[in-house]
Parts: sequence; structure tokens; C-alpha cells
Amino acid sequence: MKKIAVLTSGGDAPGMNAAIRAAVRRAVYHGMQIFGVYHGYDGLIQGDIQEMSLGSVGDIIHRGGTILYSARSQEFRTDEGQQKAVEQLRKHGIEGLIVIGGDGSFRGAQKLTQKGFPTIGIPGTIDNDIPCTDFTIGFDTALNTIVEAIDKIRDTATSHERTYIIEVMGRDAGDLALWAGLAAGAESIIIPEEEQDMDDIIERLHAGYRRGKKHSIIIVAEGVGSASVYADKIKERTGWETRVTVLGHIQRGGSPTAFDRMLASRMGAAAVDLLLEGKADRMVGIQNNQIVDIDFDEALSQKHQLDLSIYQLARSLSI
Ligand code: F6P
Repeated sequence: MKKIAVLTSGGDAPGMNAAIRAAVRRAVYHGMQIFGVYHGYDGLIQGDIQEMSLGSVGDIIHRGGTILYSARSQEFRTDEGQQKAVEQLRKHGIEGLIVIGGDGSFRGAQKLTQKGFPTIGIPGTIDNDIPCTDFTIGFDTALNTIVEAIDKIRDTATSHERTYIIEVMGRDAGDLALWAGLAAGAESIIIPEEEQDMDDIIERLHAGYRRGKKHSIIIVAEGVGSASVYADKIKERTGWETRVTVLGHIQRGGSPTAFDRMLASRMGAAAVDLLLEGKADRMVGIQNNQIVDIDFDEALSQKHQLDLSIYQLARSLSI
């Protein structure tokens, strides 16, 4: 394989640039030509493709976002859109494609492979919701952003003796909420993977209050619903002053942590190596700190597993 391409798709994630850099530099290292596809699958359909060089990925390892831009494409969901995408790749003489994104992006990549075009996926999403990999690129940076925000909110929560309900991203997965809740010492963590019991949440708040604690932090994963609904319920049952913070897209930005840069560099290089070995229809992952590759079908047929021992640990420490 002599000519390959790389694109980013779906919600961006800090570290995507480091993965692009790694893919480009690894390809050049192997004497291959590598192209950047701009604006995700939409750009692929339009032929928004440019050759990349060592220089075009200089000074990006520390930058959030993606220099290739990202999009969620409606047209690519159609058979006609996928056909156009393959034609564009062939027109440029490209023989393999690396897709950096989440599970939706991988399903798109799989469609291309089914049409005879080799693809490899790299998990890039802050949600950490991809099966068969311990971590996705961007999760660690988003986690650190959330923890930093909670630490700041805690200062004012303490001064005003208030209960704060903080809503974090994660789509249907509770990873960001759970890890941030443990790392920031939240009183309660509400995630989709665990049934929430309002009586339990209220009792934990009252137990803290009886010990003299007049402020509380509760983390709500967006996958369970709106933080304001929980704030209203808590206010109704305790009579305490509550405030809601929805952290929003601040969680998707910022310079990637060293962990995410490492992960992205390892995964970007591995994806190129896989194409060079003639492998396709696979995603790169990390398991027990080893880079692995898994068949798309195998990965996408599974459900992402949250480590619920962390939930039990957080509960036992926030008493
Ligand atoms: O998948 C990443 C993510 O940030 C989710 O956590 C969130 O639910 C979603 O994307 C938000 O998407 P958009 O940026 O399209 O509003």
C-alpha cells in the first residue's frame, strides 16, 4: 500500500490532532503518501482531499480540536453517498483510509470496507464509550477539564453553603461523570448504568449535613437527563438552595493532556502499520496499556462496559 488518507468524524476530541500527526509522520516514515480528508465524510463525498507532509502536521500535537475539521454527515448515511466516497478515494489513487472518531464514524468506515475499500478506525471521543478499548482519545483531557471546573465550583459552593448539581457530557455513557465524580470527591454521582434512587441521594445529603457539611456536589451524566430536574427534586425535598451548572462544550476543547497525546501517537502510528500489513475492517484499541486491534464487527456488536467497581468505590469514599 502506497497511498492512504486520514479523516476525523463526529464530535471532536482533544488529541485528534496528535493522532493525525502520528498517522502522517508514520506514513512518511514508511515511504508512503498520505492525504488529509477535510470535513469528515461530507468532505470525502465532495473530494475535499489534500496531500499532507511532515510540515503540515507541525505544531499541532498540543492543540485541541482537529485541523481536518469534523462533521456529522447525513449524505454519507445513504448508499449513494458511500459510493461517491469510494469513488473520490479511488480517483485520488488512495488505497486505505484511517477514520478517527466514535462508533458512528466506525459504522461509516465499515460501510466503505463492505464496498471493498480498506479502513481502520481510531477511537477519538471524549465519551470513552467504545467497546474493546480501555480508553478513547480525548477522554482524559475532558476528565481533567471537568475536575478543574468542579474544583472551582466547590470553592463557591463552600462559601455559600449550597448544593451544586453539575451536568457533564458522555452521551449514553457515564464514564466522564463517574471518573470526574470520584476524582473531585462528589457526594453523589448519577449515571445511566446505575439505577438512581432519589431517597438514597437525599439521605446521603442529610448524612453530610448532620456531620456539619453545608455544601454538596452532585454530578449528573447527560445520559440520565437534565441536571435541573434533579436540582428541583433536591430543593423540593430538602428546602436547600441549589444551583445547576451545565459544563457543555467546554469539555470538548483545550490542549490534550500528555496521556491523550501518548495514546493518540501510539494509535495513529498503529493504524498506519495495520494498513501496511494489509489489514482492514478493524479498530485500534488499548487494553492493559498494550495497543491492540479488533475486528469492527466484534467491537461494534458489544456494549461498552463501565467499570462499576469505581462507582462502588466513590460511594464508599463519599460518606
Ligand atoms: O460524543 C461527544 C459529545 O460531546 C457527547 O458527549 C455529546 O452528547 C455530543 O457529543 C454533543 O454533540 P454536539 O456537539 O453535536 O452538540
